Amino acid sequence: MLFVTGGAGFIGSNFVLDWLSQSDEPVLNLDALTYAGNLGNLRSLEGDKRHVFVHGSIGDGPLVERLLADYRPRAILNFAAESHVDRSIHGPADFIDTNIVGTFRLLEAARAYWSSSKDDSFRFLHISTDEVFGALGADDEAFHEETQYQPNSPYSASKAASDHLVRAYHHTYGLPVLTTNCSNNYGPFHFPEKLIPLVINNALFGRPLPLYGDGQQIRDWLYVKDHCSALRRVLQSGVPGRTYNVGGWNERTNLAVVQSICDLLDELKPRDDGQSYRRQITFVTDRPGHDRRYAIDARRIESELGWRPSETFESGIRKTVGWYLENAEWVRNVTSGSYRNWLEKQYA
Ligand code: NAD
Ligand code: DAU
Repeated sequence: MLFVTGGAGFIGSNFVLDWLSQSDEPVLNLDALTYAGNLGNLRSLEGDKRHVFVHGSIGDGPLVERLLADYRPRAILNFAAESHVDRSIHGPADFIDTNIVGTFRLLEAARAYWSSSKDDSFRFLHISTDEVFGALGADDEAFHEETQYQPNSPYSASKAASDHLVRAYHHTYGLPVLTTNCSNNYGPFHFPEKLIPLVINNALFGRPLPLYGDGQQIRDWLYVKDHCSALRRVLQSGVPGRTYNVGGWNERTNLAVVQSICDLLDELKPRDDGQSYRRQITFVTDRPGHDRRYAIDARRIESELGWRPSETFESGIRKTVGWYLENAEWVRNVTSGSYRNWLEKQYA
């Protein structure tokens, strides 16, 4: 059995669905169901005995210890986190609680569980981000596994702290850990506070498409199912104590990303007035401390573990826009009252 945390969120739910579409090995899914967690993502698993859902926090040590004792998983995959940079700027406390203290408590429970069994095949796979490396200039080489950590936002600082704890538990106690640092994901079940789903949703409702600053910031985009396949590969063959950068070699400016979405919507669901959705693009106040560029050098995971992404940005973004057009009900369900409050606070 796998023990997944945060498996009702964007990447975690894609991973659970992807895993159970290829394997009969069951998944224990612990999720606190914050605003970002949504059991609707896992509706297709209703009644499926291979998926055991538990509502709770990674910071609840006794609960995690009991789950480990009862289910005896062979691996823990830690997706649970507060994940949105803008929210961390408005209020960092939850990021410290979950990303740092929560990961610490999960590590403590994992250490006790692993120490009692000393099972060499046990793995603690920590899912992290490229944001821990800080910002790149236009001509800098892409982030590689030895790039110095220089986190710039409360979110990335909290993820960096959790990465350090994971590393220390390997170095000090020998816990068989693996860490992945992945670039920006996109795809189905992406919460519409993040750039790509926000823009698709706003476009369809005739609202402005907000680009921070000059829109020339660069992100390196990876289709979420490619991230899932990378995690499967790292879990299977990664070397304990080693870290793996995951990315799709898809650097794009934010403006180019938003223009691609507009062009796809023009083709798939044209505006009633026949004008392009590009008319809705609006430049708004920049994010404080906004990192200019991220780019991942994914050569280690490619050469050592033989992983490569399947999707280009063009194929992945077409699938993504198509998914949002076909899943308007999912979008309606997650864009409830509290979501509207967030939009008012952030884009007022
Ligand atoms: P998300 O915000 O969509 O989902 C996070 C999930 O964690 C939610 O289901 C939430 O309910 C749950 N959660 C929050 N606090 C919890 C707690 N204390 N205990 C248990 N569950 C809790 O995030 P995501 O985009 O799916 O990201 C998942 C992981 O991947 C995060 O660790 C994030 O840092 C990392 N990551 C994300 C991206 C990206 O582009 N989204 C890229 C690289 C890495
Ligand atoms: O790089 C990996 C990270 O990618 C993950 O660790 C984070 O969990 C995930 O949220 C994501 O962080 P970003 O800050 O890069 O994602 P976001 O979708 O918030 O923003 C992408 C880019 O678009 C960024 O440069 C900010 C910009 N942006 C974002 C929003 C929400 C806008 O210009 N306008 C917006 O309204």
